[in-house]
Amino acid sequence: MSTQKRIEDLRKRSEKVMAGGGPKRIEKQHASGKLTARERVEKLLDQGTFVELDRFVTHRCTNFGMEKKECPGEGVVTGYGTIDGRLVYVFAQDFTVEGGSLGEMHAAKIVKVQQLALKMGAPLIGLNDSGGARIQEAVDALSGYGKIFFNNTIASGVIPQISAIMGPCAGGAVYSPALTDFIYMVKNTSQMFITGPQVIKTVTGEEVTSEQLGGAMTHNSVSGVAQFAAENDEDCLAQIRKLISYIPSNNMESAPVVETGDDPLRIDESLNSFMPDNSNQPYDMYEVIAKIVDNGEYYDVQPFFATNIITCFARLDGQTVGIIANQPKVMAGCLDINASDKSSRFIRFCDAFNIPLLNIVDVPGFLPGTNQEYGGIIRHGAKMLYAYSEATVPKITLVTRKAYGGSYLAMCSRDLGADQVIAWPTAEIAVMGPAGAANIIFKGDPDIQQKTAEYVENFANPYQAAVRGFVDMVIEPKETRPVLINALNMLMTKREGRPAKRHGNIPL
Ligand code: HXC
Repeated sequence: MSTQKRIEDLRKRSEKVMAGGGPKRIEKQHASGKLTARERVEKLLDQGTFVELDRFVTHRCTNFGMEKKECPGEGVVTGYGTIDGRLVYVFAQDFTVEGGSLGEMHAAKIVKVQQLALKMGAPLIGLNDSGGARIQEAVDALSGYGKIFFNNTIASGVIPQISAIMGPCAGGAVYSPALTDFIYMVKNTSQMFITGPQVIKTVTGEEVTSEQLGGAMTHNSVSGVAQFAAENDEDCLAQIRKLISYIPSNNMESAPVVETGDDPLRIDESLNSFMPDNSNQPYDMYEVIAKIVDNGEYYDVQPFFATNIITCFARLDGQTVGIIANQPKVMAGCLDINASDKSSRFIRFCDAFNIPLLNIVDVPGFLPGTNQEYGGIIRHGAKMLYAYSEATVPKITLVTRKAYGGSYLAMCSRDLGADQVIAWPTAEIAVMGPAGAANIIFKGDPDIQQKTAEYVENFANPYQAAVRGFVDMVIEPKETRPVLINALNMLMTKREGRPAKRHGNIPL
């Protein structure tokens, strides 16, 4: 064959693969509101940067007529490219080819980009859209999943792993996304479940639609499996680009510093009159965050789940911080099982990837009740203590109002390793709330009201903690931004060791 013919042959082979499952299936994909795998990759990455790998990989299954099926690209598009000029690896399952089902060679393509991403120290982004294990490939398909799970685990804490669910994701297939750092789900077109509605109906008699069972909002607001919800494919891919801008490429790097144009010395006079005089009156902690961080911008992580605590990325003088903040507007900002799980996982992500932590505290305590106790609030709450104590990144704690008892500790007090503890004059740092405390120590005392008032006067303030050095400084709220930026700059060179061990045993 002449060179020219060989080149033409290459083009034909490439075109065949690039056509995926063909025009009819692509039309069906578009009609259901979804982009194709290749369109998604193009939109995710900087224009023209995608380099495809393994275009010609194909299966070797001969069961159930598979020998006659070609499966262009093996139902998954893999390769690398850049986001804002930074290297990322990507795989996108192609639902138009055998429903994006995963067989031996489909899995091998994914494993290859997992291993490259790990070696190169670059994020891995998986775009999932698949009917699950390719039934015809039997145990080879299961083995493929096993290898992917193993690599997910090995890469955890070394490179950021991000999963987008952009179609079905059922059975054991859900566990690869579950092992990654963040899950995005597209509203109305994506579902995740271990067993689908049909099986549930047969086994338990329950009737449920697949959207109710495992749709984007179910996992964003009820189960807490997903961290982000997107309106459509485009929104999902744009959000992933935004997330990447806040985080480093691996655990040896710092997050990129961005020129935000916001003055690091900016004072916000409105903060001095922000806090209600009545300490039981709620306020919106998002407003405090917006007044402090660069240009009022933050990226909320799990905004629909455990809304009594906020976890978000933001920037202070261009540098990424991970913010964990109580939300007095929801359940008075109490900590509960879900808030503990949500914040602990976020703290551990930030610590693994060198992102300083800013803890904003207004917490009256752990939520009381049998639901919480029977649900294991003791082991769930312990995750926060563990995650904060384990974290060696810079830790700054800002107490705006209540910081009582165990929840004061759980929000990263000095003793859990906070490097700087800053309090507003409205802070109330004490062993427990005034009413509870008075009921115990002044029980039966006819002057209980007067004594409670004395307790408030003497103990519901930041100075008991400040005289012991548990609080480094009490500041006017308006100065918060420059004070935090100074603290962050001071902590830039922080190095803190921990004893060598195989790994700890975080309460689960
Ligand atoms: C082989 C599959 C497949 C699969 C879909 N297809 N899923 N082929 N193995 N798992 C094929 C279909 O046969 C069809 O081929 C094409 O993909 C498109 O699928 P449709 O059913 O036409 O699409 P749609 O109507 O949109 O329905 C999508 C679906 C449905 C809801 C995902 O396909 C479905 O229920 N699939 C099976 C899901 C499932 O039970 N997976 C679990 C597998 S076991 P043709 O040629 O007709 O177009 C598992 C265990 C993993 O995953 C454990 C890991 C630890």
